[in-house]
Amino acid sequence: MLSMTPPMGWNSWNTFGRNIDEALFRQMADLIVEKGLKDVGYEYVVIDDCWALKQRDENGKLVADPAKFPNGIKALADYIHSKGLKFGMYSCAGSRTCDGYPSSFGYEFVDAQTFADWGVDFLKYDFCFRPKLTNGPILYNRMGMALKATGREILFSACNWGEFETEKWIRSTGAHMYRSTYDIRDNFDSIKSLALSQVDKLAYSGIGCFNDIDMLVTGMRNKGLAAGGGCTDVQYATHFALWCFFQSPLMIGGNLSIMTDDDIELLKNKELLAINQDKEARPPVVLAGGDRPIFFKHLDNGEYAIAFFNLTDGEATMYAEFFDIGITPECGHGFELRDIMTGEETGFVKDYLGTKVEPFGFKIFRGKFVKKN
Ligand code: GLA
Repeated sequence: MLSMTPPMGWNSWNTFGRNIDEALFRQMADLIVEKGLKDVGYEYVVIDDCWALKQRDENGKLVADPAKFPNGIKALADYIHSKGLKFGMYSCAGSRTCDGYPSSFGYEFVDAQTFADWGVDFLKYDFCFRPKLTNGPILYNRMGMALKATGREILFSACNWGEFETEKWIRSTGAHMYRSTYDIRDNFDSIKSLALSQVDKLAYSGIGCFNDIDMLVTGMRNKGLAAGGGCTDVQYATHFALWCFFQSPLMIGGNLSIMTDDDIELLKNKELLAINQDKEARPPVVLAGGDRPIFFKHLDNGEYAIAFFNLTDGEATMYAEFFDIGITPECGHGFELRDIMTGEETGFVKDYLGTKVEPFGFKIFRGKFVKKN
């Protein structure tokens, strides 16, 4: 089964928008391998919108723009597979894609077969220009079944931005991940509002179908289509930590050829990725809300995590009260945790955990729940 943990990869939209070609995807695939991103789990290389000609061929099939993809899509898929990576493409449930290219309404079964013939492993499926009287469940179910009918294993990445309460029906369409938000921009206000919009919806996300808060802007540094002012190092780290803690799919949106080593290291942070890829995939308990949220989360292997996010511009002292999860000192148990970023240990804590968090920063502690006599 696909999507046992949140899918990971790279997508062209945030940085390159319409300016895509075969050479770009080959280069990004090379860099995913060379920079060690493949080794930590990034595997899907995804072409977003603007890859096709404006007209279908005489058989009603989509045609890749030969000026952008001179060797055709199959050759690119073969190249990406030869690097040990997987290959993704994009279409839309309406008559045109969001940027005006032909898309799959009425052609779902034809297009799914075209993608399967090309060796596609992942389909992002958008929601623009759809007939108003159609609805999400039917359109996504139709493509979900068309993909399965090809016999090829294709990860179905739905993108209807949370409209019509996506979280309530999308899992039943065969989708493996679902965009729950409108498009991200490279600034902290956007990151914060997308993340906070999903806090009370995370219980719908889990094994087989994960809530996708949108592609990462980590390391974009205000360059490319989604530029919106950029973020500081601390803000990018908090963005990545939020996406990891919420177990969102991790689709890198930056240009890997100009990203700094520190930004690549952040994307490879083993502790954050371990939480993102945690096999139990349980939603967090919200211990505090607003723009200084605190979360508690069960992890695999009997471990737990407590996360403090300070989304404000002032330093914060934050407290996770264990009675809020039903744990009092009288139960004879407490936590032994460590700060996953610094390694610093808390010792045995049984009432609460308090910590200072820098402006726009975060702290995540993980460890065991132990009995003390
Ligand atoms: C929508 C999606 C984006 C991107 C564009 C392409 O806006 O939300 O992620 O795919 O379409 O046109």
